[in-house]
Amino acid sequence: MTSTPPSSAPTPSRPRRRLLWWAPPIVIVAGLGLSIWSWTTSLLEMQSVSEARTVADFVENVGRWASRYGGVHVRTVGTHNAIPGNFLTRTAYSLNADQVATLSAAMAPDLKSLETYHWKNPALIQREVADVVAESGSKASFRLTAASVLNTGNAPNEFEKRAMGAIRDAANVDAKSAAAQEYWEVQGRRLYFGRSVVAQKTCLRCHDKAENAPEFLRTNVAFNGGGGFGYVEGKPAGLISVNLPLPEPASMLRHMPLATWAGITLVALGLAWGVSTLVRARDAARRRAEARRAREARRSRRSSSSRS
Ligand code: HEC
Repeated sequence: MTSTPPSSAPTPSRPRRRLLWWAPPIVIVAGLGLSIWSWTTSLLEMQSVSEARTVADFVENVGRWASRYGGVHVRTVGTHNAIPGNFLTRTAYSLNADQVATLSAAMAPDLKSLETYHWKNPALIQREVADVVAESGSKASFRLTAASVLNTGNAPNEFEKRAMGAIRDAANVDAKSAAAQEYWEVQGRRLYFGRSVVAQKTCLRCHDKAENAPEFLRTNVAFNGGGGFGYVEGKPAGLISVNLPLPEPASMLRHMPLATWAGITLVALGLAWGVSTLVRARDAARRRAEARRAREARRSRRSSSSRS
């Protein structure tokens, strides 16, 4: 460490501090760049969160629609049809009056007119819609999951476990808080979003205790994932999990409005103007200093010649 001389005694040999004309524009551009970058990043994230909320609303509404009818029945006629996916119960009818007579007579209905109704509950319908959306190649996908599941195909992934943990903890503190409703993470360029599914009284018919569950649940291997029970009314029971890609920054650039480009041009012009003003001020100061030095040199020459 070198000790600096006290400022009250200026040393004439001290080098003049150079005017760093290039430093302010770099600081300004870096500051602007940083704030624009962080702002657009959070804007893109919020836009994706709002998209994910729309998807979650849609999933809830599909469930609400199906609940209105206590689930829906998918009808097949004849016996040549493929079984329409999973279902809770299946009921077959032969509505042809002649056949009913034959049926009662010989217990051998005309299989072509046999109508079969496959009962699907809301969660099953939501999952089937999710499967259709995934198959369609849509950029957003969603699913219904829970900490423990009836259908092992609905088992949660690592993100979903974290989301349910965070939501459960938040709900224990304040069930009405925003953190008790949803949770999201950005990983790579994708948004992972979860919305809490809260158990209602009606859910307990199937999701209460395994031993109380309806026969059709207990006996169906598709729903014997080893869990899916123990729901408590008013408590988080599961998760609507949505994931979608964040918009690409390159596509943002392509869609930048003319006014934004005009703004950037103005900032660049302003900077160039500022720099040129600084450089001109520096040159003028330099010229003034040179003139002063020349005047002082002339004066000292004059005084030394008059002394001699
Ligand atoms: C009639 C029985 C029944 C009722 C009532 C019912 N569920 Fe389910 N639930 C099921 C079946 C069956 C599945 C498995 C669906 C599948 O195969 O994807 C399921 C799956 C789920 C899942 C996905 C995780 C898992 O266990 O596979 C959640 C979450 C869920 N139900 C929540 C609810 C909620 C919340 C309610 C009340 C609003 C409710 N369920 C009412 C039968 C029922």
